[in-house]
Amino acid sequence: MGKEKNRGVKDDKNMEIIYIPVIKQKQLRFRWLEILSLFLLLVICIWMFKPVIVEKVVNQWLKKTEEKVDLSTADTCTIDISSRFDCYPEKSLPTELECNTRNCCYDAQDIGGAPVCFYPTNYEGYRVTSKIKTSTGINIMLNRTTQSFRPNDINQLIMEVTYETPTRLRIRITNGDHLVKRWEVPLDITRDKPGSGDQALYKVAVPDIGSPFSFSVNRTATVSSDTVTLLQTTGAFIFADQFLQLSYFLPSNYIYGLGEHRDTLLHSMNWTKFILWNNDQSPKENMNLYGDHPFYLMIENGGNSHGVFLLNSNAMEVLLQPAPAITWRTIGGVIDLYVFLGPSPNDVIQQYTEVIGRTFMPPYWSLGFHVCRWGYKTANRTMEIVERIRRYGIPQDVQWNDLDYMDHNRDFTTGISTFGNQTGLVEELHRLGMHYMMIVDPGISNSAGTGKYYSYDLGVKLDVFIKNVSGQPLIGVVWPGPVVFPDFTHPKSQDYWTAIAADFHKSVPFDGMWIDMNEVSNFVSGSTSGCPSNSHFEDPPYLPSVSGGKLFYRTMCMTAQQYTSIQYNLHALYGLMETKASHQALTTILGKRSLVISRSTFAGQGHYGGHWTGDNLSSFYDMYKSISAILSMNMFGVTMVGADICGFSGATTEQLCQRWHQLGAFYTFSRNHNSINRPDQDPGAFGPALAESTREVYLIRYKLLPYLYTLIHKSHMMGDTVLRPLFFEFPTLVDTYNIDRQFLWGPALLISPALDQDQYTVEAYIPVGYWYDYYTGERVIGTGDRINFTTPLDKINLHIRGGYILPARRSGLTTTESRSYPFGLIVALSLFGDARGDLFWDDGETLDTHEKGLFNMFTFSADQNGVYTNPEYIGYKDERQYLNNVTVFGLDKQPYGVTANGQPTAYDYNKQYKALYITDFDVTLLEPIKISWKFSDE
Ligand SMILES: *[C@@H]1O[C@H](CO)[C@@H](O)[C@H](O)[C@H]1NC(C)=O
Ligand SMILES: *[C@@H]1O[C@H](CO)[C@@H](O)[C@H](O)[C@H]1NC(C)=O
Ligand SMILES: *[C@@H]1O[C@H](CO)[C@@H](O)[C@H](O)[C@H]1NC(C)=O
Ligand SMILES: *[C@@H]1O[C@H](CO)[C@@H](O)[C@H](O)[C@H]1NC(C)=O
Ligand SMILES: *[C@@H]1O[C@H](CO)[C@@H](O)[C@H](O)[C@H]1NC(C)=O
Ligand SMILES: *[C@@H]1O[C@H](CO)[C@@H](O)[C@H](O)[C@H]1NC(C)=O
Repeated sequence: MGKEKNRGVKDDKNMEIIYIPVIKQKQLRFRWLEILSLFLLLVICIWMFKPVIVEKVVNQWLKKTEEKVDLSTADTCTIDISSRFDCYPEKSLPTELECNTRNCCYDAQDIGGAPVCFYPTNYEGYRVTSKIKTSTGINIMLNRTTQSFRPNDINQLIMEVTYETPTRLRIRITNGDHLVKRWEVPLDITRDKPGSGDQALYKVAVPDIGSPFSFSVNRTATVSSDTVTLLQTTGAFIFADQFLQLSYFLPSNYIYGLGEHRDTLLHSMNWTKFILWNNDQSPKENMNLYGDHPFYLMIENGGNSHGVFLLNSNAMEVLLQPAPAITWRTIGGVIDLYVFLGPSPNDVIQQYTEVIGRTFMPPYWSLGFHVCRWGYKTANRTMEIVERIRRYGIPQDVQWNDLDYMDHNRDFTTGISTFGNQTGLVEELHRLGMHYMMIVDPGISNSAGTGKYYSYDLGVKLDVFIKNVSGQPLIGVVWPGPVVFPDFTHPKSQDYWTAIAADFHKSVPFDGMWIDMNEVSNFVSGSTSGCPSNSHFEDPPYLPSVSGGKLFYRTMCMTAQQYTSIQYNLHALYGLMETKASHQALTTILGKRSLVISRSTFAGQGHYGGHWTGDNLSSFYDMYKSISAILSMNMFGVTMVGADICGFSGATTEQLCQRWHQLGAFYTFSRNHNSINRPDQDPGAFGPALAESTREVYLIRYKLLPYLYTLIHKSHMMGDTVLRPLFFEFPTLVDTYNIDRQFLWGPALLISPALDQDQYTVEAYIPVGYWYDYYTGERVIGTGDRINFTTPLDKINLHIRGGYILPARRSGLTTTESRSYPFGLIVALSLFGDARGDLFWDDGETLDTHEKGLFNMFTFSADQNGVYTNPEYIGYKDERQYLNNVTVFGLDKQPYGVTANGQPTAYDYNKQYKALYITDFDVTLLEPIKISWKFSDE
């Protein structure tokens, strides 16, 4: 760090020459234009809104006299502790003198996290100078009346309120000067045309011309709910060049999201601070981690939900305080706020993913079990692990390799002399109906020598590597030693990435890509030659409390230049853009679906790939914390997500690993992964007890994959979550709000894992309704209370929700094998004796099967007298799709004479658990099926 500090003042000046005058010159040149256009605008406004303005001015005058009366009696520093907004965020305990320089209030008593220096109630920033109703919203111009204590206040702002849809509102605030373009995150998702706000579930209030600026958004009253104020701005609104701050009151304490962070699922409002700045940091509390998701979901009192997304990629702090209130504080870009009105939590996520992109459709094989480790060393050893897992009869679909396979840790190479025959390994896996994925890091080695390394040579030729401030490729250090980084904003970067991946694919026919280290991670902060001294970007006037105390800590310099902007703006988007390029490369190479799993993410990740939660620890605590992480990611529109089963760092134990396989079998992305120099932890490594319970639980996963696949398809089409917190299904049950030790697959499968050492009872919350033990069909009547279930080491508790039908399929050792077996149904009758379900089915790998009509959609229903299936749409017939078993839970009376499409069939009724097992029939699902029975008294 000392080295970095000592870099001279001279460099600083050079930097200013590069960045600042560009803007200044523009400002000078266009000042007269600006003035003229504003004057014209004013004239037009007055002309158009004459009567309105006169009325407003009168109103304003009346209001002002009222305000004056208020001010004379109120003490502007008498503010409830919970509603104090921090006026000195760069220090936790500024002195009174320091505070006074900002004209803020000071109170030094120890008040548990509240700021000692805070804004007075009459703090003023901007005033409204014009307000124009448009056909799709309101445009407001703002002028700053006092200087903030930040350099480079933007004195004139424009705020555009757009009624995008009845449930989606957009509020964008940026500089009023159109000629100076501020950084904005490119979101290339097509969306609907803005509406008029007529049917809108919201109402926006902005003060009249001449008033101090503020705004609020209400949920409009409906038959089922009253008006709720979703946000009401307060504190200081600051919009300086490198300091944008927006604070507002919230309607409740129930807030989720704001990732990527390690925390409880439901966040605390007790002065909580989150830093959003992508960082190679193993999951720990109070630190900025791999991803950036400036989105929260909030449940209002009464059970409605809304969501808010701040589309901004700059380094950011988000503060929660008990008022309840939130402060967004970012050091660049614009304020681009989306409000989603729900009203159910699932509606909010649908509305959010409509903006950031719906989830991609993964191949069916990727829902199988994945096994990986760093340190297999050879292809032979990798294959030995696959074989021992198979010997135990544990299903596995995908085998991975970490860095071991590479030549000198270089991407898209095989170290034949060290690793052995990678081609042979992949061909053997394919022969077994399995798939193969390997690690790819963004850093491209620059030291192989010219003509020796295609990935480097082609990048140089196409000029796609990120540049330092002097226009030379920026050099970092990662696993291969010195590296350069592809610029995924460069127009030729897609061709580049596809070409080098395709070249490797010719010799190693991989099926998916695991993209790691893409925050990007760099073993030398900045570059091999540090970073230039630069008071704007390397050392900005305000620095959110990021790890390492520098924005470039363990990553690139902020002045590094990419095609569309500098690293200061683009940093958080690196992983997303690499995911997009990798997804596209694989689509081109394979011509079918594939899987990209990325460590670094930004809003929109789920549109192209999935995520694993990074370098976790082999501990019961980390296993527990994985649940909040995967549920939060589902709220961020990333459905393919999981944590490293048994833990990555540290040595796992047999019990932890056994429990973690039971939990991990219910991650959407289910992978066991281990670090180097640790004992083996694949499920074949511990002997028969662990292997047997792991086999059992993966047989359950594989059996239920048709249900999971259908949920994933719904996410792809409509944006539903796949892994769900309980409150998503029961948003009016307050007791569910903080549950992060249980979760659901869609609406109908409740997973209640054991998460502690030597835990043999799980105290599970069972929501209101009928639930059935997965194994026996025993009915549990949920009353919204906790119930103790035994959980011996070889069992995870699973319950099926009454009213649902889960499609299933007998499990093979791979999904490829499963696809040759018949389907089954698990029917769980509701309190009213009925149930419903559906199944989306296709070949599992063709691109865009829904759009091309190459799929089948079946619906299922059941009542006390039978089970009925219906082919709603048939577009895929290339596979035998037969039903051969149905299980009905909750059939209170003994049935007789069970028939399938009129033909008598075998069955068994368990009187104790009231479960009917119908077996040994074989009827095509492509035609309607009727399964029925009689009761003895009929
Ligand atoms: C809030 O946090 C402070 C200090 O971190 C602690 O003293 C206080 O008890 C907490 N309050 C609540 C309500 O949790
Ligand atoms: C707003 O500020 C601009 C630039 O400082 C100034 O020209 C304009 O007159 C101001 N408008 C109002 C209504 O105060
Ligand atoms: C919003 O709701 C509050 C009450 O919660 C009410 O005082 C205010 O007038 C409403 N504003 C708008 C624009 O409807
Ligand atoms: C892999 O195993 C085969 C056969 O067992 C052997 O011939 C080969 O030398 C081994 N390769 C390596 C790299 O260990
Ligand atoms: C690698 O394995 C493949 C397939 O088993 C085989 O065709 C090829 O000859 C092997 N290559 C080497 C270098 O052993
Ligand atoms: C579950 O068992 C634990 C430990 O025996 C006990 O403390 C707890 O009260 C029980 N909970 C319920 C809901 O019965």
